[in-house]
Amino acid sequence: MSNANQRARHVAIIMDGNGRWAKKRHLPRVVGHQRGVEAVRSLVRSLKNSDLECLTLYAFSSENWKRPEDEVADLMNMLRKFIVSDLEEFVENGVKLAIIGDYQVLAPDIVDLLEDALARTVNGTRTVAVALNYGSQTEIVRAARLAIDHEGILTPETLEKHLYTHELPPLDLLIRTSGEVRLSNFLLWQAAYAEMLFLDVLWPDFTPEHLAEALDNFATRERRFGGR
Ligand code: IPE
Ligand code: IPE
Ligand code: MG
Repeated sequence: MSNANQRARHVAIIMDGNGRWAKKRHLPRVVGHQRGVEAVRSLVRSLKNSDLECLTLYAFSSENWKRPEDEVADLMNMLRKFIVSDLEEFVENGVKLAIIGDYQVLAPDIVDLLEDALARTVNGTRTVAVALNYGSQTEIVRAARLAIDHEGILTPETLEKHLYTHELPPLDLLIRTSGEVRLSNFLLWQAAYAEMLFLDVLWPDFTPEHLAEALDNFATRERRFGGR
C-alpha cells in the first residue's frame, strides 16, 4: 500500500567518514573523530525541534576493536568525555538514552557512566540509541538463543523480542554517510523493510539540515512491505 508523505519515527545512522575527513585536511584521525562528536552533539540538540521519536547512532562496532590500540583508546576517551559533558543537556532536552550492543565489556568506568546516564535519562521522551560494541550477527544469534531459552520456540516474533532494539520503534530509515554503500553489520534484521539513504557527506560535515532533508526524502518514498 502506498503511503506518501509518511513521517519517520525511527532513523538510524552509520556515522562513517571521520578518518577521511581528517585525511583530506592532513590532520590526525583523532581530529576527525572529535569533529564527528561535534556533529553528533548538534544533531542531538536539533531533535528538540523535530518529531522524530528515535535516532539510533552507530558509534562503535564489534569489529572496530580491530583498529590500532591508540585509535580505540581515543574513541573510548571521547565517549567518556562526551557522556560527562553532555548528560545534563540530554536530561534538560528530554532525551532518553538507550544503548544497543554488548556495552558491558567496555572499561568499568565507562560502563558506570553509561548506566548512570541510562538511569538519569529514563524519563526522556525522545530516544537516542547509541550502538556500542554492536554487531548485528551476534545480536541475532544471541536473540535466537534467548528466544529458545525463554520462549521455547524460535519464530521471527520470539526472536525479535530479544533483539537489543526491542523497545525501539520499527526502523523506518537507515542512513550511511561517507559514500560507502554497505551495512557493516548494522541492524541487519531491523533493516528488512527500512528505506535506505547513502550520502556522499563525510560524518563530520553532517548537519541537522542533512537529517531534515533525509526526512523529507523519506516522506516521498513508497513503502510496500511486499504488498501492492
Ligand atoms: C567512523 O569514521 C567512526 C567510527 C567507525 C568509529 P571512520 O573512522 O570509519 O572513518 P573512515 O571510514 O576511515 O573515513
Ligand atoms: C561502521 O563503519 C561502524 C561505525 C560507523 C561505527 P566502519 O568504518 O567500521 O565500516 P567499514 O569497515 O568501512 O565497513
Ligand atoms: Mg569507516
